[in-house]
Amino acid sequence: MNLKSNIKIYENALQASIEVAQHITSIIQKNESVGKPTVLGLATGNTPLLVYQELVRLYHEKQVSFQKVITFNLDEYYPMAPHHPQSYVAFMKKHLFDHIDIDWKNVHIPNGELITDDIPLFCKAYEDKIVAAGGLDFQLLGIGRTGHIGFNEPESSLESLTRLVDLNPITREDAIADFNGLNNVPKQAISMGVQTIYKAKEIMLLAFSEKKSDIIQKAIQEEVNPQVPASYLQKHPNITYILDNESASKLKKQLS
Ligand code: F6R
Repeated sequence: MNLKSNIKIYENALQASIEVAQHITSIIQKNESVGKPTVLGLATGNTPLLVYQELVRLYHEKQVSFQKVITFNLDEYYPMAPHHPQSYVAFMKKHLFDHIDIDWKNVHIPNGELITDDIPLFCKAYEDKIVAAGGLDFQLLGIGRTGHIGFNEPESSLESLTRLVDLNPITREDAIADFNGLNNVPKQAISMGVQTIYKAKEIMLLAFSEKKSDIIQKAIQEEVNPQVPASYLQKHPNITYILDNESASKLKKQLS
């Protein structure tokens, strides 16, 4: 099939994730060689799990160090206590941060415990910290069935910044298993905006399994459309779509 060169299709999620982890490692090493820190935008969810597993493996093999890495997570449920097992703080510790040499002061995850009045200032400070760190060198993304990136649900604007958002009913439905019932799934989240993500120097959007095939086709091949926030990324100068055979199964032949 003739597809744009920034669409990479792998046999399975493991092969894809190994390449993504190697790519992240090479960015860290390159920056390290010129004495620069690396600023990573990180995602949670099922999609990046094998990338984190491979990064931990590379760390244990002494192929990469995270001492000079600064991270900003895309989002956190709201309200959400960091010690709650479904918090994204708990997720990141369990799958990555507890197993590598990152300095906790370089880790940033939206605070799900704020009182509502304090959220706008927190979000502004989150944006400012990304800028002060030099901007995101690399943003790792999954995609929701609604087409969300981070928790930028349909109708999010390209200009949106870090803010409190309402979760789409489909997104909440997809989280039922994690929370033991819909009533326990938070209704809101604090999420980086589309613009925050778009400003990253490089983006990799990962999608695995047949469950993502419809939304991947729309996000990559249909007109840019606020109903599918991931479609904004078609215009990004340095985005790669990392797919497996299943998630790519509905892509149409396309001239590069
Ligand atoms: C996670 C995030 C979300 C997920 C998306 C896909 O931090 O911001 O956009 O990437 O919901 O979730 P999974 O990977 O569980 O299918």
